[in-house]
Amino acid sequence: MESVWNEVDAYFEDHLTTPDEALELALKDSASAGLPAINVTPLQGKFLALLAQLCHAQRILEIGTLGGYSAIWMGRALPSDGSLVTLEINKGHAAVAQRNLERAGLSERVHVVVGPASHSLAHMIADKVEPFDLVFIDADKESSEEYFHASLELSRVGTVIVVDNVVRKGAIVEKGTSDTMVLGIQRLTDRLTRETRVTSTVIQTVGAKGYDGFILAVVR
Ligand code: SAH
Ligand code: DHB
Ligand code: MG
Repeated sequence: MESVWNEVDAYFEDHLTTPDEALELALKDSASAGLPAINVTPLQGKFLALLAQLCHAQRILEIGTLGGYSAIWMGRALPSDGSLVTLEINKGHAAVAQRNLERAGLSERVHVVVGPASHSLAHMIADKVEPFDLVFIDADKESSEEYFHASLELSRVGTVIVVDNVVRKGAIVEKGTSDTMVLGIQRLTDRLTRETRVTSTVIQTVGAKGYDGFILAVVR
């Protein structure tokens, strides 16, 4: 099945996305710099960009920058006066992302904040920054519940929150797992069962990144 998933991904990527030099070079330079190839796929990046368009996002928050690939996709969907804040703990990743965002012409609109996301989020909450319209959580899976909680503090009614990698080849349903990433997502899911401030669903995905999925939540 994996080979057909890859073929279908390539087919739709070929038909539905237009080649974009900044996006392609972002991946090339991320690979040269030794960053892991765990960025969203082109079609997933476009999905995030379409979500940004659908919710008329002016302010986007991303947790987990890597080389800035998903940030370029979402940044491209912003109006000229919009902004995206992306949080990254790794200085090397952030430096690669900064160069990639500059080449994409997005360095005015996209701000890479270096440091542990928990700190950056706490600062933004304390500073009472304007609420975000769209949040993409894609950093250390162990902290996903904490990031979701902080995202709610930075949201308004209608804010869309997307969480990447919540299916993990189906491992999410394993009871008693010792995989800390899976445990992290299970804690988030348990929270969503009780969380009255959002309504949420999951989209399972297959493709170039194997079998995985997103949580999609809307603040009510
Ligand atoms: N969103 C990116 C991929 C992010 S990969 C894309 O699709 O293009 C996850 C990133 O989260 C990595 O760069 C990793 O360094 C970062 N990260 C891990 N732990 C973190 C933390 N505690 N705070 C902020 N970023 C973290
Ligand atoms: C991993 C992280 C990601 O954000 C992703 O999309 C895929 C894999 C990981 O840490 O294994
Ligand atoms: Mg991810």
